[in-house]
Amino acid sequence: MGDSKQDDLRFIRPEIRRMTGYTPGEQPAGGPVVKLNTNENPYPPSPRVLEAIAAAAADDVRLYPNPVAEPLCARAAEVYGVGRDQVLAGNGSDEILMMIVRACIGAGERVAYAEPTYSLYDTLVAIGGGEVATVPYPQSFELPVEPLLGLRGKVTIVCNPNAPSGTVTPLEVIEGMAPQVEGMLVVDEAYADFAAASAIQLIERHANVVVVRSFSKSFSLAGLRIGLLFGQPAVVSELLKVKDSYNLSRISIAAGTAALGDLDWMRANVAKVAATRARMTEALTVLGYSVLPSATNFVLARRPGTNQRPVFEALRARQILVRYFDVPELRDALRITVGTDDEIDALLAALRDLTDEARGR
Ligand SMILES: Cc1ncc(COP(=O)(O)O)c(C=O)c1O
Repeated sequence: MGDSKQDDLRFIRPEIRRMTGYTPGEQPAGGPVVKLNTNENPYPPSPRVLEAIAAAAADDVRLYPNPVAEPLCARAAEVYGVGRDQVLAGNGSDEILMMIVRACIGAGERVAYAEPTYSLYDTLVAIGGGEVATVPYPQSFELPVEPLLGLRGKVTIVCNPNAPSGTVTPLEVIEGMAPQVEGMLVVDEAYADFAAASAIQLIERHANVVVVRSFSKSFSLAGLRIGLLFGQPAVVSELLKVKDSYNLSRISIAAGTAALGDLDWMRANVAKVAATRARMTEALTVLGYSVLPSATNFVLARRPGTNQRPVFEALRARQILVRYFDVPELRDALRITVGTDDEIDALLAALRDLTDEARGR
């Protein structure tokens, strides 16, 4: 006799039945929490964005939005110094990553990256029926370029800066890889506004490079789901074929366009985050954590040889959410989003208490 539960689901593709699905960071329904678990920006978006949202929340929401988010892409082309036909917009950069897998990866084809990195890549490849091929990052999180090239992925992803380490791969290294990868080189720049350099200009010289950006972090718009991709026109037009038909709402298009019209606001928030990040890195170090230098809005704080789950749980009991990854290479670590100064003070006070408790004081 077959497994009746499995038989009932035979209309679901076996790849999907086998996979576990992505586990997003916890999004609490309400109540007083210090939310340092999903790398959102602790500061609000530009007032111009809020005005644009209010103006877009009008009568014409009965009409479909522009299918290719025209105003947003046109402004992005100006701001980032590329042609209009070198940009596309997605419903968050997650949708763009999905579009890349849909367009490039057939059954059993390889997507290569160094791990640990953004865990959604595994899920997207599994949905697409492809094969994940990974090499480990060393403790220093320097990108293992040769082993990564050796995986011969049809798509190779470099998350830069990388999550959850916060570390950066120099642009020269990425440019050096471009002619050597077998297929497409995806640079996931969700956190690039917190770092010094971007690979966007590489698309002019390398037809196989695409750069993916998010509005969820530096622009404080995680709730609206806006992402951009930069690539050569021929690649962009292929990828457009596999997007959802109206993938950004009217409100998202208006908000993203306005956000690109007030870069000073975003940069001021990035500077505040960087200042808090420096202070918290130092304080965590005093508490005995080793913290990798971060070029993002989060830090990875490790205590080698320990399991940080009890600390994660004790913080949670105090309404402070951080991220703990239950995988062997990250069990000694907490990934902590840079919050406001007050939020980080609350976190540090809780960690000091926990350390004192552990010492029996
Ligand atoms: C490395 C990386 N890429 C992409 C994303 C997804 O961003 P978005 O909100 O634009 O879908 C995240 C979100 O945490 C991320 O960490």
